[in-house]
Amino acid sequence: MAVEILSPREIERMRRAGRCAAETLRAVGARLRAGVSTADIDRWVREDTAARGARPSQLGYKGFPAAVCTSRNEVVCHGIPREDDRLAEGDIVNVDVTSELDGFHGDTSMTFLIGAVSAEARHVVEVARRCRDAGVAEVRDGARLGDIGAAIAELAAKEGCGVVEEFGGHGIGRRMHMEPHVAHTGARGAGLRLRAGMAITIEPMITLGRPDIRQLADRWTIVTADGRWTAQFEHTVLVTRDGHEVLTA
Ligand code: MF3
Ligand code: CO
Ligand code: CO
Repeated sequence: MAVEILSPREIERMRRAGRCAAETLRAVGARLRAGVSTADIDRWVREDTAARGARPSQLGYKGFPAAVCTSRNEVVCHGIPREDDRLAEGDIVNVDVTSELDGFHGDTSMTFLIGAVSAEARHVVEVARRCRDAGVAEVRDGARLGDIGAAIAELAAKEGCGVVEEFGGHGIGRRMHMEPHVAHTGARGAGLRLRAGMAITIEPMITLGRPDIRQLADRWTIVTADGRWTAQFEHTVLVTRDGHEVLTA
């Protein structure tokens, strides 16, 4: 199936959905501190999303039981909020917010530092943010998906970090997950050519150790196989004629 090209009207609705998700993420992020449970984060995301007239896209998605993914320390992604999962000084936690507003979705995540964290933890968080931004910087009409993956993988390798290969970014619009799959590794000049009006996410998962993962018995939570810490940042990005527009800034 072809990748959807959004009309100017649809783009305006995507801007609103993206802003909505970004504002919820910022509001919730400002409340994080040691002692907060990831179930608290889930409640705040539900309240803030509803207050904006939106719906948490992740709630019930393929049976996902919460409104937000909360992925702490060695959790790569898809962490399920729990009352007994409490943030502690020195932790890092990714909060991934996806909101549906007026029929369109915005998807964004950040990894937050809880108090004073180790130099190593700060490193993986900074590298993940820079990898996300290096991927975004490649986005323009005519660029290839492989350019995005190569930029991310090159920076991660230079910084001594791993890139998780089993999950990627995705097209986004009237559904949270659409074509194309956006790999976070790749070869320059290879893969689908981006066209103005496409919307995708870029959301690299970066590890301190090896990039291998395993899934917990809850069938959702993904952790690093070696137990070392990992971080992720995500933006929803629109391809434009002369570059890109970050819809979740
Ligand atoms: N927001 C996640 C992403 O970036 C989606 C996770 S699917 C869920 O693609 F079901 F776990 F919520
Ligand atoms: Co996403
Ligand atoms: Co997301």
